[in-house]
Formats: sequence, structure tokens, C-alpha cells
Amino acid sequence: MSSSLINAFYLAAAMLFILALGGLSSNDNAKRGNLYGMLGMALAIVATVFSDVVTNYWVIVICMIPGAIFGFIVARRVKMTQMPQLVAILHSLVGLAAVSVGYATYLDPALHFTGVEKTIHDLEVYIGIYIGGLTFSGSVIAFGKLSAMITSKPVLLPARHTLNLIMFIVVIVFGFKFVGAESLDQAYLPLIVMTILALVFGVHMVIAIGGADMPVVISMLNSYSGWAAAATGFMLSNDLLIVTGALVGSSGAILSYIMCRAMNRHFLSVIAGGFGTSSAAVGGGEEAGEVVETSVEEVATELAKAKKVMIVPGYGMAMAQAQRAVAEVTRLLMGKGVHVNFGIHPVAGRMPGHMNVLLAEAKVPYDVVFEMDEVNDDFPNVDVTLVIGANDTVNPAALEDPGSPISGMPVLEVWKSNITVVLKRSMATGYAGVENPLFYKDNTRMLFGDAKSNMDELVKALT
Ligand code: TAP
Repeated sequence: MSSSLINAFYLAAAMLFILALGGLSSNDNAKRGNLYGMLGMALAIVATVFSDVVTNYWVIVICMIPGAIFGFIVARRVKMTQMPQLVAILHSLVGLAAVSVGYATYLDPALHFTGVEKTIHDLEVYIGIYIGGLTFSGSVIAFGKLSAMITSKPVLLPARHTLNLIMFIVVIVFGFKFVGAESLDQAYLPLIVMTILALVFGVHMVIAIGGADMPVVISMLNSYSGWAAAATGFMLSNDLLIVTGALVGSSGAILSYIMCRAMNRHFLSVIAGGFGTSSAAVGGGEEAGEVVETSVEEVATELAKAKKVMIVPGYGMAMAQAQRAVAEVTRLLMGKGVHVNFGIHPVAGRMPGHMNVLLAEAKVPYDVVFEMDEVNDDFPNVDVTLVIGANDTVNPAALEDPGSPISGMPVLEVWKSNITVVLKRSMATGYAGVENPLFYKDNTRMLFGDAKSNMDELVKALT
């Protein structure tokens, strides 16, 4: 394929990626956005495979076919509740690719650079491997935390900031040694030490972050994976990879900023880790009091009397796969003339937009689904709030207890409604491991059990 045709394909692919990002900014256009993204990626693969840099098609076939089959099977099998960890592990692959490409281009005997070009290429390799290494190990730890293989509580080494600083200084010093190296023998040691430190730094950074702050980490790793891809693009002199990596990197950075705002956190303090370390993290049951249990019949009776109902879903709705039953209850209530709205916390669930995706899948109309900020003042006028598998995102301790690990995080103020019904299976804490005083409030009713079973029963009771 001629280089001008390849450039035309790359340009078209870059434009499609931008359209994809634009499409993903609203529920209505999300499907179209995904299609643009898929089309852009197909164009990018075709143009790259048929470019001059590829001389051995067998290697491409041998790598791509098993990779595509594996990806297809994993994507088909993954449950909606496992999506966050799938995303995390996919980010780790981008990091691993950057590390592999860095080593491969550095060791490639066909690539000879001298003077300034050599310095630039060495820097690209060094920075690319560093970002790739920490993205890889950080994403693997995020995968472990999200799939509950590793504790969601922060694991803090003593003098962790000093450790990070020392590692960073060593990386910089070795960077000078690497760039100044005149032979492979001189370059190996700094390159390998830096790679190990990057891997250690990724683990250390993510393991120190408390459960409630994981959303910021996920979006940050998303951003890092973009910068790792951009670094790979520099190493391979591939313009499209640079543009695409920069798009992912900057949109991930914007998402991190949005997540920080939603959690009322400073980005740097999240990265420094340590939220969620106070003793209140595990809660001593100080709020202990009586909880009032309710039944499906009682909830149905309250809903039948209500004029205004708010539904607040959380991770438990995803776990129970209760979204269709929730949508059915919504339709039944609306059919009876009840005003029903949904209040969505920005970090409800385990990935950005998790609840919106589930509700869209269950065909809940978009115009009754609102962001937290849009509905938080409405609660005093709400007759019944149904909290379906949400916990941290409705925890009043965030506002009332300055010692709480989630202190300062804005939450949905569900306790201000006339009656709040909480659907969950037990008195267990949420992802952040923080006790929830909401359960003990006078106007709270606990409807224990699996959210889907209870919502199915509610459908029957309302029909
Ligand atoms: P959580 O605080 O995680 O609470 C979910 C609740 O659902 C649990 O307390 C659990 O209680 C209940 N539950 C689980 N399975 C259930 C089932 N089958 N039926 C009924 N209830 C069930 O949820 P949230 O309020 O959505 O908060 C999200 C948390 O995850 C926040 O701390 C957030 O920071 C963190 N996080 C978010 C993200 C993103 S990007 N959204 C990423 C990583 C972490 P029982 O066990 O008693 O049933």
C-alpha cells in the first residue's frame, strides 16, 4: 500500500476515534460512538498490516488469529459484573505491549541512530518502558482489587512517600546513564533496573489506594495506558498510535479529574494513597442501634401511596442483575401515575457509567435517569426512596463523620426522603469497608435478600 494511502487511512481512523469519543459522551449516541471506534480500529489495522514496515505476514497471522479468538471468547463470556476487572487487565496488556516494544526497538539491530536522533530514540524507549511497566503492574493490582483477589483496603508500607521519591530519583539517574551509554553492555543495567522499579512503583502506587478511591485509579490507569500507547507510537514512528494514545491519555486524564471532583479529592492526594486508613474504615458499629426490617408487601403498600419515588441503584443491582426487574417496577409505578426518577452517583458500581449502562440495557427511559447533583436537593420531597444494592454512595458518614475514610465524598442524601428502603442481603459494608449509619435511621427500612428476587416479588405485588 502506498504511503499516501496509508496516511489517508490513518487520518480517517484518527477522525473516527475522535467521533467515537464524542459519541460516548451521551447515552443516545454511545452505540454509534462504539461503531465509529470499531471502524477506526479496523482501518488502522488494515493500513498498518499492509504498510511497508510489515514484511512477514506469517508472524502477524500467527499472533493475530489466536489473539482475536481469545479476545472474542473472553469478551463473550465476561459477565457485566466482571467488566471493571476486564478493563483493568486490558490496560495491563497495553503496558506490557509498551515494555515489549521498547525492548524490541532498542535491541533491533536494523535500527541505528546517532547524535541527537539516538538521544531522542533512547529517551522514547526509556520513558515508554517506564510508563508501560507501571501501567502493567498497577493494572494487574487494580484487577486483583476489583476482582476481590486482593484486599480493597489500602496497604501502606512505612515511609512510602520516601520510598517513591527514592525510586523516582534512581530512575532519573539511571535515565542519564542509559542515554549516555555507548554500548549495549552499558545500557542493560540502567534499563533493567528502571523496568523493575517501574513495576514496583505500579504495585506500590495502586496497592496503597483505598477502596472508595479506586474509581480515580481506574481512570488514571486508563490515562496511563493511553500515554503508554503514545510512547509506543513514538518508538515505532507510527503517527496514528501517537494520536490515538494521546486521545486515550488525555480523555483518561479528564475522566480522572471528573472522578476526583465527584469524590471531592485532590488527584495528587489520591495517588499518594492512604485514604481509608483511619480506624473508622472497618467501623466499630458505633452507630449500633435498631434496624427496622420490612417486607415486599409493606414496600408495595408504601409505593402504592407514593406520589414521588426515587430509585438509587448501586453495585448490588449489578451483582443481582436486578436491572430488568427494576425497570419493570418503574414502568408499573409510572403506569399508576407515580413520578419516578433515578439518582446515579458518579462512582456507583465498579466502573464509570456502570449504572447507566445497566439501566439502558433494561430500557429505562434516559429522561428519568439523573446525575447525583441534579437530584440531591429533591430528596425532602420524595415519598419513597428505593436504594437497590448501593452502600458507600448513600453513606451519611461521608458528610457527618470527619474521621470517616470517605469523609468529604459527596453522597446521595437518601435519608432526607420520607421513607428510605434499602435492598441488600445483610448488614455487610460496601466496597470501602465503612459502616453505614443510614441503616439505623428512623425512616430507613431494610428489605433483606437478593435484590433481583425482591424486585421480582415487588413486580408481582404491584401488578
Ligand atoms: P457498594 O458500596 O460497593 O455496596 C454494594 C452493596 O450491594 C453491598 O453493601 C452489598 O451488601 C450489596 N449487594 C451485593 N450483592 C447484592 C445482591 N445480590 N442483592 C442485593 N444487594 C447486594 O456499592 P456502591 O454504593 O455502588 O458504591 C460503589 C463503591 O465502589 C464505592 O466505594 C466506589 O468508590 C467503589 N468503586 C467504584 C468504581 C467506579 S469507577 N464506579 C470503581 C472501583 C471502586 P450485601 O452484601 O449485604 O448484600
